[in-house]
Amino acid sequence: MTDDALADRSLVVVSNREPYVHDYVDGEPTVERPTGGLVSALDGVVAETGGTWVAWGSGDADFDPQVAPDGRVEMPPEPVEADEEGEDDDRPGYTLSRLDLPRRLVENYYYGYSNQVLWPICHLEADPVTVDPAFADAYREANRRFAERAVEADPDVVWFQDYHLALAPQYVREARPDARLVQFWHVPWPTAEFFEICPQATELLRGLLGNDAVGFHLERYAANFRDCVARFVPEATVTDAGAIRYDGRTVETHASPIGVDGDRVARNAASDAAEHYWERVVARYDLREERSVVLGVDRLDYTKGIVERLDALSHLLETNPELAGEFTYVQKGTRTRERIPAYRRYYDEVRARIADLDRAYGTEDWTPAIYIEEDIDDRELAGLYRHADVAVVSSRRDGMNLVAKEFAAAQGRPAPTAGLAPEANGAPARDRVPGALVLSRFVGAAESLCPAALSVNPYDVGGFASMIREALEMDANERRERASAMRASVEATDIDAWLAAQKRVLAGGERVVADD
Ligand code: G6P
Repeated sequence: MTDDALADRSLVVVSNREPYVHDYVDGEPTVERPTGGLVSALDGVVAETGGTWVAWGSGDADFDPQVAPDGRVEMPPEPVEADEEGEDDDRPGYTLSRLDLPRRLVENYYYGYSNQVLWPICHLEADPVTVDPAFADAYREANRRFAERAVEADPDVVWFQDYHLALAPQYVREARPDARLVQFWHVPWPTAEFFEICPQATELLRGLLGNDAVGFHLERYAANFRDCVARFVPEATVTDAGAIRYDGRTVETHASPIGVDGDRVARNAASDAAEHYWERVVARYDLREERSVVLGVDRLDYTKGIVERLDALSHLLETNPELAGEFTYVQKGTRTRERIPAYRRYYDEVRARIADLDRAYGTEDWTPAIYIEEDIDDRELAGLYRHADVAVVSSRRDGMNLVAKEFAAAQGRPAPTAGLAPEANGAPARDRVPGALVLSRFVGAAESLCPAALSVNPYDVGGFASMIREALEMDANERRERASAMRASVEATDIDAWLAAQKRVLAGGERVVADD
């Protein structure tokens, strides 16, 4: 089936986060779009079909009740980007169906089950797992509400996003046995040994088996999922071809690595806004031209390995005193999920480690590590990427990690295609030697970016420190070669390729009925 087949059908996307957050600032209604490529990419798909997007309304609960009496807001089409001028934008808008979840439910479903049970388990972190019976009940209740809202939209196809919604597919299946249900799981799927610590392991798997297809970033995660089904759902059968027979149906599993819009990131990196932001950072923190910049960009989440990175930097300076004053580490941090104690502790720990590093090694004219917390937009972020000599992504575990891919894209194409101006080719106009990437082997992006990116085990402090040193000392030719290889891989698995694969799965034709 083609995309056209999808366009004729009623598509409902269901995600925890909403694509537009409405709020009041100084009494004025505002709309904020989460940055990043995923939301705008999904936005395009829903707009193409004029469908419905169901999400938790996390903005101001009192937002304009006259416009949205039942949580529904008609979304206009995406504005046409300046660089697409000339194209007619005749895409229909879509309905954003916001769920106004009670505070207590959010507490237990989002901060509780989703982020203190499922998130750590999927990232193979046992310590932060907190099992409170109220969490699982709230997860069921919230999933029911998402499912009911999806069913109300009378869908032909429902596309669930991520780990907040493992039970909703089963609930929708019960009400709409004829609908096509598809889910993409944006975080890793753990091994069966690890998943077994989840008290609701079987229930969650049965919920997900309400889908016709479940997608993951890597084949490894899909294989772990099938393994869990084989072990914990006795009535399901996993075939040699990797399909799952369950409840008289066949559930397909597939791997599609998500990507970024590389040209857009490269254009952002070449923009004046990127340059101006970088100039402000240089002036504010007195960054000297002769010093290298090592960059980290993270949500402040314990899975991101920021503490391990700061330990490695400290070890590097301890064992290589001649590197003192040679680089500045710039940490762009985004606070996250702070109602959860483990996240508050992590924030404090990161700040304390940065202060320790500065106290232990700083001098009158050199601050080894700086921390930037202000909100910045995509162009400003691309300015940081473009000016970094080394970026470090050191997650202890990460489904994909788009920072790594965006950093690679922001270095531009070192060798522009003949006949095209560098800007037209998506490459930054300003000719800089590209930055090097040090990348944890435990993130999904390592499968495509390494060995062009320098692979590290973030738990191995000595090896990690040596790799940062190698990146700092890498010569210009090697940087160009590696950047070129990384950019090629970012292009081969970009957001359009991911979307095309998802559309094929969504359109997927009739449901396959198992002949058992
Ligand atoms: C990860 C998850 C997303 C989530 C994002 C931000 O990337 O896979 O589903 O939206 O983190 O976390 P938050 O809890 O703020 O939505």
